[in-house]
Amino acid sequence: MRPRRTLHSSLRLVLVLLVGVALLPVPCVSILVSALGQAGFVVDCTIEGLMHAPETPAILKAGARIQVISNEHPEALERMVPDSALEKSVRAAARMLRAAKRMTVTSAAGTNLDVDMVGASTVGVWGWTDKPGTLAHWPGGIVVSFPKSGTVNGSLVLDRGDINLTFKRYLTTPIRMTLKDDYVTDLEGEGADAAMMRTYLAAWGDREAYAVSHVGWGMNPGARYEALTMYDKNDTNGTELRAVAGNFLFSTGANEFAGRFTSGHFDLPMMGTTIELDGVAVIREGVLQDVFG
Ligand SMILES: [Fe+2]
Repeated sequence: MRPRRTLHSSLRLVLVLLVGVALLPVPCVSILVSALGQAGFVVDCTIEGLMHAPETPAILKAGARIQVISNEHPEALERMVPDSALEKSVRAAARMLRAAKRMTVTSAAGTNLDVDMVGASTVGVWGWTDKPGTLAHWPGGIVVSFPKSGTVNGSLVLDRGDINLTFKRYLTTPIRMTLKDDYVTDLEGEGADAAMMRTYLAAWGDREAYAVSHVGWGMNPGARYEALTMYDKNDTNGTELRAVAGNFLFSTGANEFAGRFTSGHFDLPMMGTTIELDGVAVIREGVLQDVFG
């Protein structure tokens, strides 16, 4: 009689497989991807998460659910255990984004961004998944839309206190960006924040690194704005800041729905903006509005 595999040993097997995917030659990778697809339930505990990995769609297509546990401090995970109330509001927000034709984002700092939402692909994440073929991450409480090509225009002003999650740093000086048909065409600002952003973008040597990846906002009431000051950089992956309720989460980098692929990626949670969908405010000056049912 074969010994029954415990949940713990199954999870350990899957985790070993996940680590192995990154290290093995191509034929072995395809065997591992196939095994993960048949596992039914995959827990992704890798440092950056496999959600953007080229192998992930095949695993999902085979019917597996992928639960990403973001590389956060255990205290943060405990604080942001998802619940059904969050699921309800995230689902409602995702429905609103899918129905929207236009998103506008404005702020006292000077942001005035226009996004044509027609054909955008939207994802809502509340922290878990019970549906085969889907991926979720914990912590959740985020909605993101990937706009179609040539749909994002205007100016984006990252203010003091907004966050650059690639650098895990609160901005100390404003950065003013101009966007034309999705691409950052101008990036101005005094000091290290703007300088590092310019050099980091240029380092990819890839025009696509300058284009919009996704737009959306955070909705998790347990996520704390000041969290980056509480953890060493190695103890947080910044998902908490992406989920802070009322932020505008703007990102540059790959957007497969616009046909763009690149390795560069900035996630930039911005506070204090007003976001409107077809003229209806869903966030006003950084505060979630009572429109999510
Ligand atoms: Fe992102």
